[in-house]
Amino acid sequence: MTEKSPLIVGVCGSARAGSFNRLVLDHALAHAETLGARVEMVEMQGDTFPNFCEDLETRDGRPGRLDEIRQLCVDADGYLMASPEYNGGPTGILKNFVDWVSRPSKTAPGIPFREKPVGLLSVSTGRLGGIKGIQCLRMILSHLGMHISGKEFAFALAKENTEDGKIINEFMAGEVNAVAARLFELTR
Ligand SMILES: Cc1cc2nc3c(=O)[nH]c(=O)nc-3n(C[C@H](O)[C@H](O)[C@H](O)COP(=O)(O)O)c2cc1C
Repeated sequence: MTEKSPLIVGVCGSARAGSFNRLVLDHALAHAETLGARVEMVEMQGDTFPNFCEDLETRDGRPGRLDEIRQLCVDADGYLMASPEYNGGPTGILKNFVDWVSRPSKTAPGIPFREKPVGLLSVSTGRLGGIKGIQCLRMILSHLGMHISGKEFAFALAKENTEDGKIINEFMAGEVNAVAARLFELTR
């Protein structure tokens, strides 16, 4: 009998075209794939994640592809998340994703976050790499009952350390790989 490869879902706190967080997250997911994981990315663009409001939910139900994405999260064995730090915290986009997916669904039932491992990355154009954003994210994800991997990385000076969509700093690429590798271990 062959062991099924774990499903790792990527979530990015920036929907910006040319996002450094997306670049680094894609690198981490690609590394997880080389280790034997199946990987899927949650795309935040489109009409699936309007600003959460209970009135909206009551009036219009579940927007866009939300149930499809919730099902992906229910199926996930673990997550890799990367977010910019905006004013000392993770972005509204990331928190909004958590809020929508945390809502129960009859058509995509199950547990999207509780007891699942997550590896954290933050990427910043600044010198501290967004480390305060990661701390804040830890608090939110712990509240959901997630298991935060002990290996995380705050990737600083993103403009200087990337080029043409690639990480060009060997040490930093290794740290990102280590986050992915640890998370992969936690899913097994
Ligand atoms: C509203 C806003 C607030 C920001 N606050 C911080 C911050 O607190 N710390 C930091 O290191 N960078 C901060 N930045 C800079 C981001 O690190 C930078 O824009 C980064 O490239 C965003 O990530 P992305 O390339 O994935 O979109 C901020 C940027 C914006 C737009």
